[in-house]
Amino acid sequence: MPVKPPNVTSAEAQGPERAALLDLLVIGSSGHASVLVDAIELAGRYKVVGYLDDTRVCDTVRGNYRVLGGLNDAPTICAERHISDVVIAIGDNWWRRRVQQKLSEKCPQLRFPKILHPSAILAKSAEIGEGTVILAASHVGPASRVGAFCILNTGSSIDHDCQMENFSSIGPGTFAGGLAKIGECSAIGVGACISDRISIGRHTVVGTGAVVVRDIPDLVVAYGNPARVKRSRSEGESYVDTKKNCS
Ligand SMILES: CC(C)(COP(=O)(O)OP(=O)(O)OC[C@H]1O[C@@H](n2cnc3c(N)ncnc32)[C@H](O)[C@@H]1OP(=O)(O)O)[C@@H](O)C(=O)NCCC(=O)NCCS
Repeated sequence: MPVKPPNVTSAEAQGPERAALLDLLVIGSSGHASVLVDAIELAGRYKVVGYLDDTRVCDTVRGNYRVLGGLNDAPTICAERHISDVVIAIGDNWWRRRVQQKLSEKCPQLRFPKILHPSAILAKSAEIGEGTVILAASHVGPASRVGAFCILNTGSSIDHDCQMENFSSIGPGTFAGGLAKIGECSAIGVGACISDRISIGRHTVVGTGAVVVRDIPDLVVAYGNPARVKRSRSEGESYVDTKKNCS
């Protein structure tokens, strides 16, 4: 279903309607979580109640919010606090998918809203899946389809008719031309450029600053200008330092 761009400004987020905000639990409390929390606060639709993070001691304060427990505490915390909405703030794509699966098994009633920074620009005909986050100054072009639980990081852009499959991500300052396709769980590094009509496979990592002018297959690491496949990789192999979050 087409998604309209958010029309809530940060000034509005400070207004009296703040009392009506829905509670939102954030899974993970790393640097990516801090970027997401900023977008959530500016968008003004949800009130962050705290974090769940297996890697931190309960009651640790991260930014303005407390770690309330680990992933196993989700059913109790959500029931006690009447929380229905959760965002998974884990940058590693495979790890985010794993946590989402675990969470959905434990708490099948949970909703995963998309988080759209107020400065993000979405074409009228763009489609965005549940749990996807579109961060500051990023752009999704006409007829592009972004699956569920994707990340479009700060200042990134996909042009017209692009496709990002579930749990894929593009790093800050990454650009993709029209009709580009990024496969499930694949990660495009900071500042990469992807030519129009390029297809990138599943579980592939494209390194920082790569210039991608040929298709890239599944399960490889590629980088350079022009980007070349450098080696194969396995599903779940770490490529950012967030893998330890929320096992
Ligand atoms: C590509 C990447 C996964 C590393 O792959 P790798 O196969 O493990 O490569 P290594 O780190 O072992 O480096 C091997 C060589 O390639 C070079 N290299 C690594 N990444 C490179 C890149 N993106 N461009 C050019 N050269 C690169 C290294 O400098 C090293 O060279 P050296 O042997 O002369 O020292 C990593 O560099 C990367 O880009 N990760 C993405 C990070 C990111 O964007 N995160 C998103 C944050 S929001």
